[in-house]
Amino acid sequence: MTFTHDIVIVGAGGAGLMAALYAREGGADVAVVSKLHPLRSHTGAAQGGIGAALGNEEEDSWLWHTFDTVKGSDYLGDQDAIEQMCRDAPRTIIELEHYGVPFSRNQEGLISQRRFGGHTRNFGEAAVRRACHAADRTGHTILHTLYDQCTQKEVKFYDEFQMLDLVKDEDGAVVGIVAYEILTGEVHTFHSKITCFATGGYGRAFKTTSNAHAGTGDGMAIALRNGFPLEDMEFVQFHPTGLYRLGILITEGARGEGGILRNSEGERFMERYAPTVKDLAPRDMVSQCIYKEIREGRGINGKDHVVLDMTHVGTEVLEHKLPEITEFSRVYLGIDPVKTPIPVAPTCHYAMGGIPTNVDGQVVSGPDRENDVVPGFYAIGETACVSVHGANRLGTNSLLDLVVFGRRAGIAMADEIKRDGTKKRNLPDDAEQTTRDLLESIRSRTEGEKAVSIRTDLQETMMTNVSVFRNDETLSTALSDLKELRQRAKNVVVGDKGTKFNTDLMDAVEIGYMVDYAESIAASAHNRPESRGAHLREDYTDRDDANWLKHTLYWADDGDYRFDYKDVIITRFQPKERKY
Ligand code: FUM
Repeated sequence: MTFTHDIVIVGAGGAGLMAALYAREGGADVAVVSKLHPLRSHTGAAQGGIGAALGNEEEDSWLWHTFDTVKGSDYLGDQDAIEQMCRDAPRTIIELEHYGVPFSRNQEGLISQRRFGGHTRNFGEAAVRRACHAADRTGHTILHTLYDQCTQKEVKFYDEFQMLDLVKDEDGAVVGIVAYEILTGEVHTFHSKITCFATGGYGRAFKTTSNAHAGTGDGMAIALRNGFPLEDMEFVQFHPTGLYRLGILITEGARGEGGILRNSEGERFMERYAPTVKDLAPRDMVSQCIYKEIREGRGINGKDHVVLDMTHVGTEVLEHKLPEITEFSRVYLGIDPVKTPIPVAPTCHYAMGGIPTNVDGQVVSGPDRENDVVPGFYAIGETACVSVHGANRLGTNSLLDLVVFGRRAGIAMADEIKRDGTKKRNLPDDAEQTTRDLLESIRSRTEGEKAVSIRTDLQETMMTNVSVFRNDETLSTALSDLKELRQRAKNVVVGDKGTKFNTDLMDAVEIGYMVDYAESIAASAHNRPESRGAHLREDYTDRDDANWLKHTLYWADDGDYRFDYKDVIITRFQPKERKY
């Protein structure tokens, strides 16, 4: 069946819903296609807050927020986009409040704000309260509010339709997608004037991750397979505090409320590494420091974790400002954070890289920001790279990125539809052929391996060789493992040959995506011989601005890949050594 809409947005997290809402308010006919029910999107797992210089607790300014984000990015973020995001933040938060997001309140009845890593007052002087939050369920409340607004505005939802391909016309313009209806097993085409990917991140490629099961990088892999590049894939964020072994997020807001990281000697070790902001240093630094402590023998009881000590913070704060993580610690580890420090270790959390776009969400398929814009194709949120996070994202800037650039893309798409009227490019005759061939080859295969064992090995090699510490040897090992995993993924088999809710089949498709983007991460990391932000090379420990102050663009075709580069946009802040 072919469904026709002005705009098809793939993914129903914060970015997708924000874009849908604004495009709909701009008069467009908007559909949202999602492999999940929208309320199961990973935005719902975002805990601690959304950054905006509202100044509700103490003096703050968008310029300080901009500076912190640039410095946090290790000077790889594009400063025009960062400024856009930080200037737009306060207004966007108020809009969210008016849509109905139930933000927590301070004594004056204003939106409550708390400290978060890397956010400072007066260009690095001291930590500032900038994270607006709804207890520690901020993403959950934003997701529910936006979904409610979208349903009221009659955005059309196609729930549990999994995108399997992008459709281009003979001029290379994007004219829609092909999706698999999980309930029935039918393949459908969505024909649109504009297609927007808001498909989220890829954390599932790593053994330990805070990401939901759906975080399998589908949009990035499908873009890559259709000849588009991925930008800065070497930069993978490990959040410092995942529940030990499980990877489940323990919000940075816990440290914002006074929590302290301690090693086996009970030492507040971040004081040694970041004397000004201590436990509220940016994530790349804190994760690297935790591993240094463990490597030097100061993990708790000789194990590979430290603890997050909240015992001095008090029941009131834990129960009211941090109820989610208090509950998680009790349920998953059987630990009461009121009395016992929480065992934590870094967990794969966020993709700084992704599909390259401009500040309106238009996909840009090469180094020329003006002339390489792809007709009909937008990307937003974690699957996109604007780039506002550069080599390391600050906590709270992810939700902010979703809503600011989701909104901008929604407005830009609606404007484009108004400008171009009813014009719609033609679909090619064989739009569904690649997808039908892919599904048929998997279904009909009788010999091979199930997706789960391929995925386990992929997660193991990515975690061991491409996580916080990297060097030539580990990255070469990962690349050779991935080559073998690519062959194994080509022989993936499914036990379930049926049509209804065949998640086995979707797992088999996703393992192919995972190999594709995992290779983009390992190859881009191998290609960058310097240490910057979250990319720490043990064999090239310095940042090398002379040669590597540039974005990586990565193209691939079935295991062959190539690179190109794009300048970093520097406006106000010249690169300096990062000290906290
Ligand atoms: O720590 C957290 O609550 C996560 C926030 C973020 O990733 O921005």
